[in-house]
Amino acid sequence: MVGDEYPETTVWAYEGRVPGPEIRVRQGDRLRIAVTNRLAEDTTVHWHGVRVPNAMDGVPHMPLPPIAPGETFTYEFDTVDAGTFWYHPHMRSHEQVGRGLYGPLIVEERQPIQVDRDITWVLSDWRLKNDASVTNDFGNMMDISHNGRVGNTVTINGQVLEEMPVQSGERVRLRLINAANARIFGLRFQGHQPVVVAIDGHPVEPHQPDEDRVVLAPAMRIDLVLDMTGTPGDRASVVDDFYRDLAYRLVDLSYGSERLRNRPLDAPVRLLANPVPEPDLSGAARHQVTLGGGMMGMMTGAMVDGRMTDMRTMMRSGMAWAINGVAASGPDDHGSHVMAPTFTLERGRTCIIAMVNETAWHHPMHLHGHTFRVLSRNGQPTRFKEWQDTVLVDPRERVEIAFVADNPGDWMFHCHILEHQIAGMMSIIRVA
Ligand code: C2O
Ligand code: CU
Repeated sequence: MVGDEYPETTVWAYEGRVPGPEIRVRQGDRLRIAVTNRLAEDTTVHWHGVRVPNAMDGVPHMPLPPIAPGETFTYEFDTVDAGTFWYHPHMRSHEQVGRGLYGPLIVEERQPIQVDRDITWVLSDWRLKNDASVTNDFGNMMDISHNGRVGNTVTINGQVLEEMPVQSGERVRLRLINAANARIFGLRFQGHQPVVVAIDGHPVEPHQPDEDRVVLAPAMRIDLVLDMTGTPGDRASVVDDFYRDLAYRLVDLSYGSERLRNRPLDAPVRLLANPVPEPDLSGAARHQVTLGGGMMGMMTGAMVDGRMTDMRTMMRSGMAWAINGVAASGPDDHGSHVMAPTFTLERGRTCIIAMVNETAWHHPMHLHGHTFRVLSRNGQPTRFKEWQDTVLVDPRERVEIAFVADNPGDWMFHCHILEHQIAGMMSIIRVA
């Protein structure tokens, strides 16, 4: 994984490779995927961002039990939306994902935009020892109470990549998927002007990213249209400087000696919208969700298993975060223990959720079963009312989202920094 001078890295994998195989279908196709569990522990597969019926969502005991070792379960659902999605376990996911279980799921548009190449980059982040083996310190308190398991080695499609060959004049659709447990990426394509055309699989008004930096929190996807405007023989770095003092070169775009065309392709890059119901803001039910906990926060305690528990006691049992004052130990870890819903939404009605981050940390908040519009940040309307399924909430930020609660069932709503999720930042929203 990290190069020839190192031994191979032992991973957990789908079909023996990291990332797992790219599942590619056409919008409207029905997917049928048989999953056989050859791990020594239970697992599930969650189809992140895909609007599936509740029973196919891969959350253990909600309502189906996980897949036991040696067993096979067949997931089956229609792909209603086109876009870039991914799959991963929803069972002890901080370790199962952290060891390599994830893969891309691409649903092609019926009328795709014109590009020369359609490329997927599954970005992941590993904490490796000197012998290139994965460290076993999953779920340690340091990671849990700070920014999660941020590793020391970033891979593109499972490899430390030196360069990506490109051609002058070429137009690439680059589908970025952040499969890392905790690392947030802030990518700069030096000398290039990427255009964002989709976020979390859903079309957005094509635009250049703020400050020319593509920010991608765990579980998020961004589709870029990247015109290779360099000249033959050029080399341009893609740099990740999300954590300012930890900037590094992710990969180089390396231009071949031939020119594909002299001017960038002149073709529209706007994608057709997905059939997501438009929220009706005037008739919306409003809810607030407060995110609390972690180091340097103000939270002194939270409800754990129905009892008010102080922060020190919480931390001794591996808990550090809360949603609306409740630190949930969810079905992911605790057998058949199912949490009570934080609130219940009336089916078919629009819901506005205001998320208030009272912590000193970033939280990419993910809602299952639905796609929401991001309405505002700190009271300022967002530029494009982006459709997303995972939204990065900055420290102390207030983010409002809206969606039509049209998919019945109990749905997970949690932080996708997987160490935060297992340590309490997890809840259930019921649509009934
Ligand atoms: Cu990507 Cu609840 O998951
Ligand atoms: Cu978090």
